[in-house]
Amino acid sequence: MKGTVPATVILGAQWGDEGKGKAIDQLASRYGWAVRFQGGNNAGHTIVIGDTTLKLHQIPSGLPTPHCNLVLGDGMVIDPWVLEKELDAWNALTGEKPEGSRLFISERASIILPFHRLYDSADKVVGTTGRGIGPAYRDRIERVGIRFADIEGLLENSQSISASASRMSSQLAAIGIDHRISAQDLENDLRWILDRYGDAIAPTGHMLDIALRNGEQVLLEGAQGAMLDIDQGTYPFVTSSVTSRANASHGAGIHPGHIGPCLGVTKAYTTRVGNGPFPTEIPSEDPSGQHLAKVGHEFGTTTGRPRRTGWLDIPALMEAHRVNGFSGLVLTKLDVLAGLDEIKICIGYELDGRPITMLPVRAEDVARCIPVYETHPGFEAISEDEWLAMAQKSHEEKSWLEALPDAAASIVTRIEELSGIEVQCVGIGPDRRSTLSKPGGMFDHPLNLGNF
Ligand code: GDP
Ligand code: IMO
Ligand code: MG
Repeated sequence: MKGTVPATVILGAQWGDEGKGKAIDQLASRYGWAVRFQGGNNAGHTIVIGDTTLKLHQIPSGLPTPHCNLVLGDGMVIDPWVLEKELDAWNALTGEKPEGSRLFISERASIILPFHRLYDSADKVVGTTGRGIGPAYRDRIERVGIRFADIEGLLENSQSISASASRMSSQLAAIGIDHRISAQDLENDLRWILDRYGDAIAPTGHMLDIALRNGEQVLLEGAQGAMLDIDQGTYPFVTSSVTSRANASHGAGIHPGHIGPCLGVTKAYTTRVGNGPFPTEIPSEDPSGQHLAKVGHEFGTTTGRPRRTGWLDIPALMEAHRVNGFSGLVLTKLDVLAGLDEIKICIGYELDGRPITMLPVRAEDVARCIPVYETHPGFEAISEDEWLAMAQKSHEEKSWLEALPDAAASIVTRIEELSGIEVQCVGIGPDRRSTLSKPGGMFDHPLNLGNF
């Protein structure tokens, strides 16, 4: 038996959509396993490889890497119908059916049923993705949810199915949704899930434990972001799971001693989808915000909603660092800042006339924070192809920030100074290859088109 190699964790350091999918895809060639450990299809992780764009919601971003095993882990809530669409899309693209051969669904993961989606559609406060995430986690916490492991037993117990269906129906009635769940519908759904995924449902925690003890490399893929964490984020405008490093091992079903490097992914600015406080948000009439939205294509990968845009928020990043202890940063979308006259970075806030550097606990207070900015000179816009060429040249020459325009390089250095966290790579375009990698760092390996 080989020695254990620590697992790597990659997390969103902001309010989601930082570019986690791209970073995980870039690292996956060096890993045997990519594992989602929380959340569900509220996530939308984009991978761009040449002319191919993949939008993954539940399948880990190791999918385009043929030797990478994929786990939908214990801590997830999984919509089996959405998963089928993701698998069909992949099959249409490549002919591969990974389920049961290299894609495994944890027996312990909870199932998102039509009931959960219906219940979530009543949300008027948080601005959820409407995918049933909160209601599915609520059922899990109430200990009435259905896990993949439970299906077979339930199908032999018609009383239990009836009780679940009538509980769901009365909960829908209580919030005024005119839809009832029949026992027959629930039974049909569960039978379909078992038929569709039978071989792929597996004891994934044990599989990962064995893989780690055999010296295989494991990548743990966070969804959402630190500021959306149920315990540590801008509650109640958060998602319903623990998005943090501490849950990466637990949600994957392995012990915390396996966790090694933890990378935080942050844009060079900030975006947020849905409701909730956002201190550095740029007012919609301000051309800088419009620039970020347009050049950054800031529309939700899952719902298509426009993302709110704002400047980089160092106090929020430090909050994410406090909780996660990042060993490195993946800085994304630096290219999107090109073409702005000036670039702001929030270095603190004022609240009730007093300077503060920590995010307050209550969402109402976060909303009242007035950001304190430092302003940096902008740099010129160039085309997406020119950024890609810059990244490729830098890979060939093993150069680092000197490949960038001076004003862009200073932004990276300043973010390192302010956060005290080393930047491991800098994203300068959506393509897998559009990244500058720190020589000798975790991303310093060939980023090519692979089979695409
Ligand atoms: P995730 O949820 O963290 O995986 O991020 P999303 O996929 O939801 O959103 C990130 C968006 O930015 C996607 O459209 C990516 O293709 C794109 N993207 C990622 N990194 C970069 C980058 O460095 N530059 C640019 N211009 N786009 C990027
Ligand atoms: P990825 O993994 C951005 C937001 C929703 C809403 C709040 C709660 O792509 O970064 P939920 O449906 O989870 O109950 O919604 O969280 N949200 C995300 N925002 N990226 C995501 O995932 C998100 N997942 C949830 O917009 O504000
Ligand atoms: Mg996303």
